[in-house]
Amino acid sequence: MFENYKTPKELIPSDPRFGCGPSLIPVDFLEKLAATGPNLLGTSHRKPAVKNLVKEVQEGLTKFFNVPSDYLVVLGNGGATFFFDMIALGLVDKKAAHFTCGEFSSKWFKASKDVPWIDAQEIKSEYGDGVRAENIADADLVAVTLNETSTGVQLESLPTVDADTLLCVDATSGAGQIRCDISKTDVFFFSPQKVFASEGGLFVAFMSPKALKRAAEIEKRSDRYIPGIMSFDAAISNSEKNQTYNTPSISTLFFLNEQVKLMNEFGGYEKACEYADKKAQLLYSWAEEKPYLSCYVAESKYRSRAVATIDVDDKYNAEDIIAAFTKEGTVNGIDAYRKLGKNQFRISMFHNVKFEDLEKLTKMISLAIES
Ligand SMILES: Cc1ncc(COP(=O)(O)O)c(C=O)c1O
Repeated sequence: MFENYKTPKELIPSDPRFGCGPSLIPVDFLEKLAATGPNLLGTSHRKPAVKNLVKEVQEGLTKFFNVPSDYLVVLGNGGATFFFDMIALGLVDKKAAHFTCGEFSSKWFKASKDVPWIDAQEIKSEYGDGVRAENIADADLVAVTLNETSTGVQLESLPTVDADTLLCVDATSGAGQIRCDISKTDVFFFSPQKVFASEGGLFVAFMSPKALKRAAEIEKRSDRYIPGIMSFDAAISNSEKNQTYNTPSISTLFFLNEQVKLMNEFGGYEKACEYADKKAQLLYSWAEEKPYLSCYVAESKYRSRAVATIDVDDKYNAEDIIAAFTKEGTVNGIDAYRKLGKNQFRISMFHNVKFEDLEKLTKMISLAIES
């Protein structure tokens, strides 16, 4: 249907990457990394060059997110998926309550459910529906996902939990451009390959004094085996020294640091959220306006400001449009989440994806369909 489609020159985006992770890493970050020559890559993470980089990342994130001074910015290898298991083994006392609404929040729930001594409760929203997170009286840990990357559903507000309950937020694809008061969370964690324009394999977690205390208490218990690589004590004590427990990917730290600097220079968290709001407004109003498109997430307050999911009328095959763009090399990464199986575009609005490029993308899709 779209074999003869050709994007007019003036509509070609400045960068073809609209994927929801790994996300667009600016090319000048690569040049900056190359310019470090022999002074960074291939040097020890126990020595000043890398330790200073980790420190800069920790300080830059603290400034950006206004992380309270008694919280610790903890970094380690493994990414958010690994951190799901660390939380299950090292932070859940007896019961974890998980609010799920898609693939990633379900995966996190499974990480708790698979631990024999954890009583894991799932409070499930149907895919595409919003999440009304709340305190669960007998849970000692409440798990919520700031932005469900598979469906494009974002959390509307954080629940207030009991004084001895930990509120843990998987912020992997929302951190940095969806508003969240860190002081209301106990563990706010993410992988940096989304808004923070880096690569995978790292987790970043802001931990409250309450979370640090729980981690220390659980680790002391003789009845619980925690593999060394998953030890909070190891992650925390190394982060306090601007290090990671085992060898990190230095390029990942470098790109993350560049992006944190860029976003602080952009004006900080609120300005980044405003930019995200503007892009979301563009995409969702386009989807509402065109008769052949609709927003997958029905209620606008739950529509993500980071990942837009837009359904296409079954008369047109989104995959064919994507194939036409791929063939000419103008756009990539806008396929629906593979397991969702929808005739849909899933479009990243991450910070480095420019408003002007999203505008061009909307015109490209409309042109493909309308002609
Ligand atoms: C919301 C969310 N949580 C967790 C993950 C898993 O992250 P990682 O692949 O870095 O482990 C992802 C990845 O896309 C995600 O979007």
